[in-house]
Amino acid sequence: MSSPGTTPRRELRVAGFFRPQHARRIDAALEYLAAARAAGAISAGAFKLLLAGVVCGADRVANICGTYGAFLKRWQPNTAGPFALVLPLPPAGPLGRAHCEDANQLVRRLEQPLDVLYIDPPYNGREYCANYHVLEVIARRPFLDAAALRRLEASIYGKTGLVPYERSRYCRRRQVAAALAELVAAAPARHVVVSYSEEGLLGAEEIRQALARGLGVAPSAIEHHRLSLRRFRSDADGRSARLDGERRTRPRRYRQLEGRGRDELQEWLFYARRPLAAAGRTA
Ligand SMILES: C[S@@+](CC[C@H](N)C(=O)[O-])C[C@H]1O[C@@H](n2cnc3c(N)ncnc32)[C@H](O)[C@@H]1O
Repeated sequence: MSSPGTTPRRELRVAGFFRPQHARRIDAALEYLAAARAAGAISAGAFKLLLAGVVCGADRVANICGTYGAFLKRWQPNTAGPFALVLPLPPAGPLGRAHCEDANQLVRRLEQPLDVLYIDPPYNGREYCANYHVLEVIARRPFLDAAALRRLEASIYGKTGLVPYERSRYCRRRQVAAALAELVAAAPARHVVVSYSEEGLLGAEEIRQALARGLGVAPSAIEHHRLSLRRFRSDADGRSARLDGERRTRPRRYRQLEGRGRDELQEWLFYARRPLAAAGRTA
């Protein structure tokens, strides 16, 4: 309320990542899963499916603009509905295995030859751990006992609730080329495919050189393919975008390159085959 004669100040409603009622439900679902897992009352498959359902459901009602780098100051329309589990469809093909580890370390331990090494690394300086940490914490919660949970809570810092994380070499301009070359050199793979954005830290020539170095082939042996994609835009396209409910913001503008459609972006795919003589551990 403003007093007579003064200019009314706009109320600043500080929001968060989740509305309190959603946060409570997410917490309850995670507590249930943690308890059921600890008691052996749930199969491993059901546990993973339900946990994935909580992660995906939480993401639907998160008060963000694309990533968890920040929450928005006012509740967005997607936060108005109820929180519900969103169960992902199990993959139709053979079961995969996920590792939570630095890929450069992991490939050194692989003993079996790989048919294909497909690498889809971060392409800019924005760390995934700092932009998806909320989902990471949700996914970790049911694996933590009371002491581990207290340690996690005590480690949280910053306005957006970051947890300490290891920085990726793929997000560092000065380290990324060496990281890529080391990864392909160490992986026992016959075929290597790399996906990268044309707006990334590395240019096409640098990627070509890094792959050639890692595989011990000539740079001309690396194939470079370009796929046209539509740029991901978290703001509305057109006259004006409402990012935070009330304040009008101008849509972000990107320079349109000659011969390109509006918002057209190229995804790069590099392909290289490791020479059999150099394949060593490969088939
Ligand atoms: C462009 S995303 C890949 C997205 C994935 N291909 C998909 O379609 O869902 C890059 C991923 O690499 C992970 N990452 C970053 N540095 C890494 C490293 N050194 N080792 C393994 N993964 C890493 C990030 O956490 C992120 O999940």
